[in-house]
Amino acid sequence: MNADRQAVTVVGLGSMGSALAGALLDRGHPTTVWNRSAGKARPLVDRGARAAAAPREAIEASPVVIACVLDYAALHTVLDPVAGSLAGKVLVNLTSGSPEQAHEAAAWARSHGADYLDGAIMTTPPGVGDHGMMFLYSGPHAVFEAHRPTLAALGDPLHLGADPGLASLYDSALLGLMWAAMTGWLHGAALVGAEKVPAADFTPLAIRWLTTVTGFLTTYAPQVDAGRYPGDDATVDVQIAAIDHLLHAAKARGVDNALPELLKSVMESAKAAGHGPDSYASVIEVLRKPVEAR
Ligand SMILES: NC(=O)c1ccc[n+]([C@@H]2O[C@H](COP(=O)([O-])OP(=O)(O)OC[C@H]3O[C@@H](n4cnc5c(N)ncnc54)[C@H](OP(=O)(O)O)[C@@H]3O)[C@@H](O)[C@H]2O)c1
Repeated sequence: MNADRQAVTVVGLGSMGSALAGALLDRGHPTTVWNRSAGKARPLVDRGARAAAAPREAIEASPVVIACVLDYAALHTVLDPVAGSLAGKVLVNLTSGSPEQAHEAAAWARSHGADYLDGAIMTTPPGVGDHGMMFLYSGPHAVFEAHRPTLAALGDPLHLGADPGLASLYDSALLGLMWAAMTGWLHGAALVGAEKVPAADFTPLAIRWLTTVTGFLTTYAPQVDAGRYPGDDATVDVQIAAIDHLLHAAKARGVDNALPELLKSVMESAKAAGHGPDSYASVIEVLRKPVEAR
């Protein structure tokens, strides 16, 4: 252990909590761990962690307490009975949840005299400790800055703002992007796979195409912010014609079309709202005003 490094407690040693504790140990942080199923602490103790016998002992061991359990119900099951011991500590909650749950947890922590940072981990356990991986935080800026060097042991710490709900909000937005992109890639792999093209052959082209798509996002972001969508590259009308080719090719090969049909219906709604000659960015008008709200 490195005497210059801040002592940290990790509560919750599932796949993610164990990776967090491991990254802290790798960086020389004196690390105390606790988990409901005590056996999961053993590999970390072998690497130099100290296992606490109970949550209170774990919290009392360090000024910074990182919590990473399944959900907020589990978080409160563990911390509510020992909330008094959080006074003067910094609680960094890396448990996934909603912005509303983060607001509630921040108020709860404050009421017990603790500083609170909410966080979201934008990687899987093998990526923890890699400085390229984003760790999103929200909560008081001064608290974040004071603990940035410790948080940097886990990945690249990004502070999104004082509102504690922001990390969860971005997390949900980014996961939605991930699921849409990965499902689109799998749909493409199923389509070319119907012609015996291995996914491994399709994927380098898919990755190169995604790089092109990131350029579209950069072009469209200012259009979204301005609410003006000049159809000077590809219009919604053009995209609707193109997605018909995808629907046809997939249907002819027996590939499920639920995803492209959903995408086409959103494009059709944009067209019905008068955005046929506009850029694809105009689809946001439909997303902001779902049909039931119009
Ligand atoms: N895995 C990922 O790739 C990933 C990525 C980003 C964010 N996350 C988030 O990280 C959090 C943990 O995920 P994980 O992958 O580590 O899950 P996991 O391996 O299933 O671990 C769940 C953890 O929660 C504890 N737990 C569950 N219910 C509990 C209860 N009622 N009381 C006390 N402890 C309880 C478990 O304790 P026991 O060991 O005793 O069961 C374990 O420590 C989740 O919020 C997840 O969304 C995970």
